[in-house]
Amino acid sequence: MKWKRILKRSAAAVLLVLFVWFQIAYWTSTNDCNAPIRGEVMKAIKVCEYGLDALQLADVTKPVPSDDQVLIKVRAASLNSLDVFMIRDTWLGRLIFGLRKPKDTRLGRDVAGQVEAVGKNVTQFKPGDEVFGTCQGALAEYACASERALVMKPPNVPFEEAASVPLAGQTALQGLREGKIQRGQKVLINGATGGVGTFAAQIAKSFGADVTAVCSTRNVDLVRSIGADHVIDYTKEDFTKSDQRYDVIFDNVGNHSFAARRRVLNPKGICVLAGMGGAGAKGGEAMGRIVRIFTARGLSSFTDQKFAQYVSKLSKPDLIMLGDLIQAGKLRPVIERTYKLNDAPEALRHLDGGHARGKIVITVEWDNKS
Ligand SMILES: NC(=O)c1ccc[n+]([C@@H]2O[C@H](COP(=O)([O-])OP(=O)(O)OC[C@H]3O[C@@H](n4cnc5c(N)ncnc54)[C@H](OP(=O)(O)O)[C@@H]3O)[C@@H](O)[C@H]2O)c1
Repeated sequence: MKWKRILKRSAAAVLLVLFVWFQIAYWTSTNDCNAPIRGEVMKAIKVCEYGLDALQLADVTKPVPSDDQVLIKVRAASLNSLDVFMIRDTWLGRLIFGLRKPKDTRLGRDVAGQVEAVGKNVTQFKPGDEVFGTCQGALAEYACASERALVMKPPNVPFEEAASVPLAGQTALQGLREGKIQRGQKVLINGATGGVGTFAAQIAKSFGADVTAVCSTRNVDLVRSIGADHVIDYTKEDFTKSDQRYDVIFDNVGNHSFAARRRVLNPKGICVLAGMGGAGAKGGEAMGRIVRIFTARGLSSFTDQKFAQYVSKLSKPDLIMLGDLIQAGKLRPVIERTYKLNDAPEALRHLDGGHARGKIVITVEWDNKS
């Protein structure tokens, strides 16, 4: 009896501590939205609250590069699922990016532009160089990036195409390597028409694979135009119910069960899972897919068919390789549409719809300013 009482009191004390901790963490979670502008001014997309409707183009402080950073005059930026996830109002997003308000008030990772200034430790770039890579806050007139996150833009590749590459291109390339793709193998790309999928289909072809692309009716011509050998229209046919077997499934969507995907994998096949929530999924559906992905990964440790999950890494050699493939005309970034910087909120809403065709690119107009 005495132990029961002690246990009850301890549980109540733990709950009280957690409640007080949560309240403190919630109410102290803030961002720099109300900070006054110090130094030079620029335009940027500012994220003060969660929700796509809260985005605004505003005057903010122009960033100053640290010793190891490069200041880029942004010419183009591209959007990724990560950008939408960072500002969608979800409990998981709040746990990661700030309980009450998003801690980071700048948006956009993929960038291409001209070097404006460099920090004193930067050795690989100088003002005027044309570069592309990743940064924090690409949806702005200027952004700072670490020297190790940038490479030179191939001269004949437009800024829009270069900006479309970093996250999606590296995710596709590194995911296919994770699947140990080899010449002549049968590779299925589920979700072949999004940012990652359009790169994955083309890179798989360049490795000499026989590529099957899964997409909806309106995108059949698109995947054929980027080289898919076979197309499965998911509105008419479920690829997990076909008699075909694949060596690699590169899955951007994650909308089938472990058993269903195993059925169409060869005995030693690999299913590579790109991302968490999956292309086209939102809210509760996205959470369901996360559970499915972790279940599949766990269960696959008991089978010969493997389910691999990975997080793409920043790699200069990969960025250079992707840039060179574009320059040589062997890889064609699929850009559905370009939007001006002040239309970035509309562009993010479009991506959030889950049916983007290839990449969505934001351009910064400099005609009257430089
Ligand atoms: N691992 C990493 O480090 C990393 C990095 C970046 C992204 N990712 C992940 O990679 C995945 C794909 O990203 P993304 O940028 O390519 O997404 P996305 O551009 O938003 O994908 C949109 C595409 O998905 C297609 N789609 C939607 N529902 C589908 C379905 N049921 N079956 C087949 N296709 C469907 C849509 O085609 P329709 O209009 O024809 O339906 C559309 O073309 C996401 O899960 C993302 O989180 C991972």
